[in-house]
Amino acid sequence: MDIEYISNNPPQTESIGADYAGMLPRGSIVLLTGDLGAGKTCFSRGFINSYFPGTLVSSPTFTLLNEYKNDQLTILHYDLYRLKTAEEAAELGIEDMISRADYTLIEWPETAEPLIEGNIYRVTVRMGAAEKERIILVEGDFAWKPSVSE
Ligand SMILES: Nc1ncnc2c1ncn2[C@@H]1O[C@H](COP(=O)(O)OP(=O)(O)O)[C@@H](O)[C@H]1O
Ligand SMILES: [Mg+2]
Repeated sequence: MDIEYISNNPPQTESIGADYAGMLPRGSIVLLTGDLGAGKTCFSRGFINSYFPGTLVSSPTFTLLNEYKNDQLTILHYDLYRLKTAEEAAELGIEDMISRADYTLIEWPETAEPLIEGNIYRVTVRMGAAEKERIILVEGDFAWKPSVSE
């Protein structure tokens, strides 16, 4: 079931990301789609900070991957904007990395999609009418409502 939410500011987008994290089973792979500046990283920050509070979550634009790890949990956060082919994605060893992670978030997943198998969820972030409005479409086979107001 897909659910659409309106976010009115970055903290709300982070909250939706955090709540979403709590709903997904271990091993989930989240593919984030949306234009540059839509809020994919913001959503990911909320998701990651729900498990790693207080940790700085920056965009993996240049590193392609940021990894968050402790004794219990590993979260991978990819931004594959710079990749052009599936071969480049394969060279990163994404399939292998994902298979050992608890959660994986992938911004700009297109090049890697043919390689990715498993428990995949799609999140799409679109610009809304107002400057800070974002429309967030989340996929999930569960009944779920984030704690932020719509
Ligand atoms: N409701 C909102 N949700 C998320 N980001 C917002 C929102 N309103 C404004 N913004 C701004 O939009 C930008 C989103 O950036 P970012 O999350 O890095 O986007 P992306 O990863 O999709 O390129 C940030 O500058 C943020 O401050
Ligand atoms: Mg981003």
